[in-house]
Amino acid sequence: MEYNKEYFKGKTYNITTFGCQMNEHDSERISYLLEEMGYTKTSDRDSADFILFNTCLVRENAELRLFGQVGSLKQLKRKHPDKILSVSGCMMQTTKARHIIEEKYPEVDIVFGTKNIDLLPELIRRHLEKNERVIDISTMYPKEDFVEYNNSNNFQAYVNIMRGCNNFCSYCIVPYSRGREESRRPYAIIEEVENLVNNGYKEITLLGQNVNSYGNTTDFSATFPQLLDRIAKIDGLSRLRFTTSHPKDLSDELIEVMKNNDNICNYFHLPLQSGSDKVLKDMNRHYDRQKYMEKVAKLRKAIPNIAISTDIIVGYPTETEEDFKETLDLCDKVKFDSAYTFIYSKRPGTKAAKLETIDKDIIQDRFDRLLDHLYPVFFEKNKEYVGKTVKVLFESVSKNNDEFLSGRTDTFKLVHAKADESLIGKIVDVKITGNTSFTLEGELV
Ligand code: 5AD
Ligand code: SF4
Repeated sequence: MEYNKEYFKGKTYNITTFGCQMNEHDSERISYLLEEMGYTKTSDRDSADFILFNTCLVRENAELRLFGQVGSLKQLKRKHPDKILSVSGCMMQTTKARHIIEEKYPEVDIVFGTKNIDLLPELIRRHLEKNERVIDISTMYPKEDFVEYNNSNNFQAYVNIMRGCNNFCSYCIVPYSRGREESRRPYAIIEEVENLVNNGYKEITLLGQNVNSYGNTTDFSATFPQLLDRIAKIDGLSRLRFTTSHPKDLSDELIEVMKNNDNICNYFHLPLQSGSDKVLKDMNRHYDRQKYMEKVAKLRKAIPNIAISTDIIVGYPTETEEDFKETLDLCDKVKFDSAYTFIYSKRPGTKAAKLETIDKDIIQDRFDRLLDHLYPVFFEKNKEYVGKTVKVLFESVSKNNDEFLSGRTDTFKLVHAKADESLIGKIVDVKITGNTSFTLEGELV
């Protein structure tokens, strides 16, 4: 049998993606490769011929969820042995999770990692030809630049500018799973964005674990602010976003570039993790509360309507009640627009994994108290929009009401408004009429 495009024509694929935008973007690249082979996408997982779970391992429940979902496909695979079941992503870069898949989930046919995505077509062919399980994990990225990919829509795209991380925050597994930091060459990034913009894309999000250290460990000299400024100047680009920024590396130069380019969105995601100097030190974060607050003040001074969001971990092993109160206090002072809040999860192999964890009930109580502090502030921040007219890029039909569309302001506020589907992908003026802690509601003007 020849496993060419003809063979895959009419076959379908389905990808379940866990985790961060980096992973979502990897799934886009995987989609591109599968479609090049002849597969078409389906949203119905059980009917798909190629079923993939692209995994994450930043927090523990991701593992439990994965094993649950893979296990639930046992019956399906038994009935349809021709279906290909595959697992990829960060979790597969670790031997422990990979061994669990190898030993306990024989129904999984293909396992690959974050660094050999480009090999997927080859792995599928190898599996079909030899009718055997293929487990292929690479610890090195291929030399050549990243492959082409397609996106979930035709107006927004993620563009990788770097991969890996050198920070080794004590709780975090990313430096182990994604490896050392590597920056992509500026010309390749600029060319990719230019192509996307020429093809009608309106919003580009630059991705990296720590975008501010772009260019630090390379043989070319380019900094993130320089790159951002150059990309912002690409003709026809309406919105430019980036994530994630480590507070220790947020420079004045970056704030200047944001201020000077109208198409760079007035939104900043600045992961705090903890408001206690002691815990920040234990986490190996290289900043303290004072420095964090100074950066926020600088951002707000330069860009008054900027929205600031954050990540916070509750229950780091060395966090005492006093430390936790420092986090609450800092949240009260900074007044975040939104926050991703996490319960500390022990990740094997990290420095923090050696420490004894805090009692679950104590952590849950702190977590609830944190949300009690955050949500009313989110509400107040959103309320400031009521009565104002803002530009919204509509992304999709609203999940709750199909007469409404959902979209985002440049400050990343989620907006629902009654509007025709033809406005998806367009940037439209919307007058805000109401709000919750998490959304704005508005009317077209
Ligand atoms: N436990 C809980 N949260 C974590 N994060 C990263 N590692 C862990 C962990 N072990 C959170 C951090 C990071 C976000 C992407 O995930 O807040 O900024
Ligand atoms: Fe993990 Fe810290 Fe790197 Fe972010 S900066 S990916 S939290 S090690």
